[in-house]
Amino acid sequence: MKKLPVIIDCDPGHDDAIALIAALASEKLEVLGVTAAAGNQTVDKTEKNARKVLEICARTDIPVAKGRGKPLWNPLSVAPEIHGDSGMDGPVLPEPSMPVCREPAAALMARLVEESPEPVALIVTGPCTNTAVFLLSYPHLWKKIAKISVMGGGAFEGNRTALAEFNIWTDPEAARIVLESGIPVEIYGLDVTHKALIYREEFALFREREGMVFQFLADLLDFFGGTYLEARKFPGAPMHDSCAVIGLTNPELFTYVETDMSVETESPRSRGALTMDLRPAAGKKPSVCGKIALDVDREKFLQVLLGACETITRQRREKGYAS
Ligand code: RIB
Ligand code: CA
Repeated sequence: MKKLPVIIDCDPGHDDAIALIAALASEKLEVLGVTAAAGNQTVDKTEKNARKVLEICARTDIPVAKGRGKPLWNPLSVAPEIHGDSGMDGPVLPEPSMPVCREPAAALMARLVEESPEPVALIVTGPCTNTAVFLLSYPHLWKKIAKISVMGGGAFEGNRTALAEFNIWTDPEAARIVLESGIPVEIYGLDVTHKALIYREEFALFREREGMVFQFLADLLDFFGGTYLEARKFPGAPMHDSCAVIGLTNPELFTYVETDMSVETESPRSRGALTMDLRPAAGKKPSVCGKIALDVDREKFLQVLLGACETITRQRREKGYAS
């Protein structure tokens, strides 16, 4: 089967880490590179966390580049109340030994896209800062971007404000550049990611399994599920970022509505809100190049994540690593 080449722009981040595992395990994706964004934590922390995840997955062959240290316009506002001071509190991991790329994120994206024989899909699970810098800096490469899958926003929900979701709110200008580029965009917003929930009683499905990867994911769920319970009274851990990955590998699990989208950037009250037109006739416009996911088959989604841990565990064993 021909794999879809992808670059993952992320801000690990507990759910980003789980999304990376899902992407690395999929036989449908070829992860060309990972770029770290400033979001959940500073970019120095998110890039280190990204390298830690690749090392656990025995994929130090994949380059990790550090992105911009702050949003295009806003000051950076990190989320230690959800992800802790390291950005990935909970699991106890060694310092990464693989090097970080010398190239900045946008330059790595450009090199990987240029080198790829096939169009590349971008998966964005943090603020869109790096992806926007890439698009603005390399317009001649837009024709080699197959699509952009974004975890962000929400048709009917916000979490950083009543109207805005954290990734889009952190850098609304960057999100607007991505959404208005005309490149096909898939949005996985809070409407669907809050349904992609692993319930607390299901954490045991990972904890009870042998091997470092299952235990790593269980540690992530324990911490992330704990902060979501304390801060937002959630009965489990929402797998926000894995939606942007599994939407590419298993689109049949999701329900979508076609609509062009953008971001409100002018009003201080609604800044960062995702804008769209869901009226029935609106989606029929010839210019529509966006779709938003509004529902997911949660049980099958959970099975994909369990299967991903199984796959990475097997791959580690085949490479001679302790499982
Ligand atoms: O609002 C959820 C998003 O913000 C997720 O990507 C999470 O990792 C945080 O970055
Ligand atoms: Ca994220």
